[in-house]
Amino acid sequence: MNRLKVTDSEFQALSKYIYGISGITLSAGKEYLIETRLGQLATEYGCRSYQELLTRSRTEASRALEKKIIDAISTNETYFFRDNAPFNLLQHRLIPDIIDRKSKKGGRVTIRIWSSASSTGQEIYSTAMVLRELGLPKPGCDLQLIATDISDAAIARASYGLYSQFEVTRGLSPARLAKYFTPKGDGYRINDEIRSMVSFRKQNLLTSLTGLGKFDIILCRNVAIYFTREDRLRLFDNLSRQLEPDGCLLIGSTESLAQEESPFVPMRYLNSTFYQLQDTAPSAPARMNPLRAING
Ligand SMILES: C[S@@+](CC[C@H](N)C(=O)[O-])C[C@H]1O[C@@H](n2cnc3c(N)ncnc32)[C@H](O)[C@@H]1O
Repeated sequence: MNRLKVTDSEFQALSKYIYGISGITLSAGKEYLIETRLGQLATEYGCRSYQELLTRSRTEASRALEKKIIDAISTNETYFFRDNAPFNLLQHRLIPDIIDRKSKKGGRVTIRIWSSASSTGQEIYSTAMVLRELGLPKPGCDLQLIATDISDAAIARASYGLYSQFEVTRGLSPARLAKYFTPKGDGYRINDEIRSMVSFRKQNLLTSLTGLGKFDIILCRNVAIYFTREDRLRLFDNLSRQLEPDGCLLIGSTESLAQEESPFVPMRYLNSTFYQLQDTAPSAPARMNPLRAING
């Protein structure tokens, strides 16, 4: 079947529209993304051009098409224990530190963790498995795990927790697959024991985040790369307001935050980098060395 071609003016108009509803930027040369990801939607809606699709989305009261456009255009690539290092960092350093620090204050310990662009859930479920393996939750220590994404379809899949054969081969050890999943149809469903640890909701990271409260750990991995520089700055500034004073931010392994542009300082533990708020980060304790500028 011939793919519906996007004209220059349609590309401009759609890029602007998609930016407005999601913050995702489609730079020149990404015409193929419109054609490969929205062509099918245009056919489904009986539209003969992308302009027609755009008009339909703008005028549709239910905003169902707008949601479908976000679902189609967002890149949901993810896998279990992606990059490994952040999960080792959580297991061996960040979670034990939080428990230690909070227990010293007395009373119940509650650890709040947010996977802020969670896609289909692999990131937050990997985190939940790590927490289980640390014996959490346990008496006196509660967990609140929240996973959000802008894509309704991704959130729906994440909260159902059903993965294909291919998806469970990506990053999961056979031992974890056997322990935390149950075969279902052609794939595997995450067990209730892990699924029930997480609550999912839709959230656009470029809108107000204050309703979510403050977190000890925020994972914001492999999403800021789709934003303009200005939106990235706004995002990290907003995230800094959702982080507890001693909290930690984890970003993608190929991403970095320039110190002069963000309220965070990079910290290193073994081979991992994480970020803390400028004002509260400890000044170079042993084994944790703030880096100056790590991305130049
Ligand atoms: C490449 S995935 C990253 C998933 C996971 N964090 C990881 O690193 O494996 C990027 C996710 O960001 C989501 N996303 C894109 N724009 C967003 C926005 N403005 N607010 C929230 N999520 C967004 C997409 O829907 C997608 O699921």
